[in-house]
Amino acid sequence: MTSASAPGKIILFGEHAVVHGRPALAVPVTQVHVDVEVLDSSKAGIWIDAPNINLHAELKSLPSDHPLATVINNFLFTFGIDPFPSLTIEISSTIPVAAGLGSGAAVSVALIRALSSHLNHPMRDEQVNEIAYEIEKIHHGTPSGIDNTVITYAKPVFFAKGQRIETLRVGKPFTIVIGDTGISAPTREAVGDVRTLWQADKEKWEKVFDEIGKIVKKAKERIENGEWELIGNLMNQNHALLQEMTVSSPELDRLVNAARKAGALGAKMSGGGRGGNMLALVRPEMAEAVSRSLKEAGAKNTITTTIHP
Ligand code: MEV
Repeated sequence: MTSASAPGKIILFGEHAVVHGRPALAVPVTQVHVDVEVLDSSKAGIWIDAPNINLHAELKSLPSDHPLATVINNFLFTFGIDPFPSLTIEISSTIPVAAGLGSGAAVSVALIRALSSHLNHPMRDEQVNEIAYEIEKIHHGTPSGIDNTVITYAKPVFFAKGQRIETLRVGKPFTIVIGDTGISAPTREAVGDVRTLWQADKEKWEKVFDEIGKIVKKAKERIENGEWELIGNLMNQNHALLQEMTVSSPELDRLVNAARKAGALGAKMSGGGRGGNMLALVRPEMAEAVSRSLKEAGAKNTITTTIHP
């Protein structure tokens, strides 16, 4: 038996604009994860057991564009594995689906790594990331690649599409509280809607994306310098621009306002939006109060996480 695990993620700054070529910052969230076990099986075929999504099926019975089937087939094809081995693959996850925490990318990364080690085909991180990106395209249509990247490398990243992956240096640890609206939010739709806005008025939206790009660069500098208290205001500015982009929602805005009122230094939605998660920057001693206020304002769950150097 071989196992592998992958964390969740959260976008600190720059979602959506990153699809349009601007940079973004993302960090892994290790409190939630996907775990995959691969076992040799006496039963012929590749059997997948994923209780979180109610799936118990043989690989061949899945549609060819099913994300799990695509990961496995892509892996077997990459290494020219034929005939297929007989395996049981067990997938479990504590990452809520369609919540902006990267559940799809985490499944891909953990599954690729578990297959790679079980079938003895070592892979570099870049290879894992490449396959995971192909699968992201099935989930999200035109993803930037930030989700699979931060999850593959499991480190804070400064990411820009098509550029060398840069680890984000964290000068001093800082704490964020993540609040889940409990509303599942398909990233594909939100990304598509932003593209439609952009197509209707490219000049306007290019400027908005540029503004977000500037916020991301300022935030990066402050995080690197350990001036984390100064990124709260940048979060608020980024949230306002995401609202303008129509990807926030009344539920997200309610949580963002509740966090600010409870003493957070700043707050914003995170990821695709329209539901899913938001995050708030807090002094560690305020984390509990902010988390409580988020729950009172309707959050289904909160996670407090500290980003370390
Ligand atoms: C999703 O986590 C982040 C988005 O910017 C989409 C993407 O970058 O692919 C909304």
